[in-house]
Amino acid sequence: MIFRLGDFHVPDDAARLYPHTPGRPWVLEVGFGDGRFWPAYARTLPEVPNYLGVELSGVSLLKAHRRLRDAGLDNAVLTKLPADVLIREVIPHGALDAIIVNFPDPWPKAGHTDHRLLRVPFFQLAASRLKPGGRVLLTTDHDEYFEFALEQARASGVMDVQTGDPPPAALETKYALKWRDLGLGAHHASFTPTAHRPVPHGDVYPYPEDESTVPHAVLTLPQTFAPTAFEKVTQRSPQAGWTVILLDLYQGLRRDGWVALAHVVEGDLTQEVLIGITAREDGSYLVRLAKFGGPIITPGVKAAVGTVTEWLEGQGAVVRHRGY
Ligand SMILES: C[S@@+](CC[C@H](N)C(=O)[O-])C[C@H]1O[C@@H](n2cnc3c(N)ncnc32)[C@H](O)[C@@H]1O
Repeated sequence: MIFRLGDFHVPDDAARLYPHTPGRPWVLEVGFGDGRFWPAYARTLPEVPNYLGVELSGVSLLKAHRRLRDAGLDNAVLTKLPADVLIREVIPHGALDAIIVNFPDPWPKAGHTDHRLLRVPFFQLAASRLKPGGRVLLTTDHDEYFEFALEQARASGVMDVQTGDPPPAALETKYALKWRDLGLGAHHASFTPTAHRPVPHGDVYPYPEDESTVPHAVLTLPQTFAPTAFEKVTQRSPQAGWTVILLDLYQGLRRDGWVALAHVVEGDLTQEVLIGITAREDGSYLVRLAKFGGPIITPGVKAAVGTVTEWLEGQGAVVRHRGY
């Protein structure tokens, strides 16, 4: 099953996500790529654990979804999100039996190590979400990233580090085969929490329960409003932690409005959202977040509706109501 962030509860519960297999171990795979690992690994276990897979790539998500479905693995949930957002928001404290990371992106260039997943904050977050005795399992071909991950785990102060052999299924993933063809070997480590620093769940980002909670504004536009050009608009709130960039404005072919395209960044979560500006019967206009693409209504997305509204005010609009 494919879930969006808004389909999850914050935090969620294994019994809700896997109603037919609630008591089974719960495993998270980060960056599952084309999904080869889980069917191969699950076959080696007496009972298939509940599986949660997180990926950034939508193409990979679809490939993996097909693969898991064809393998008959129905106690599996896949989602397209940054791993740390999913872990922090969705996974309850002390809930996972394992977090598996096979061949994470190595970010090999100098100055790019901040992009690596396996850094101190990840280990502290993982330690807080694993059960006692749970483990993070890392397999990588990349010598330098492997040493970096071991150092970061030790520096986190919450993980015991053990090196050993990878599970055979980790050597059959797409990237494992790629590196094997190049004659490269794989390193493996297992990280077990020794301590538990509380890492709280973050803000709740639920889907709106009803239409009235969709961020919107009602305004009147000047008779002369007919934009022919648009300059990019950027707004930032360091306190609230969002950046909104209005990238462009498009006119609807039905000539009853426009759509603004906004890029919204909040920590690890980036969303592209559309905000409609649509004529109403009484001559006013409704500025409203479009449902297209299933946006998650975060403070930054609300701010994007505000940014469009304020841009329209700059063009002479008079706001009658603000609902964002
Ligand atoms: C080098 S590939 C390895 C894929 C797969 N594990 C394999 O062994 O074939 C790394 C994968 O991690 C995903 N990824 C990178 N950063 C991520 C993050 N923060 N959260 C989730 N997935 C991530 C990438 O999209 C990519 O598919």
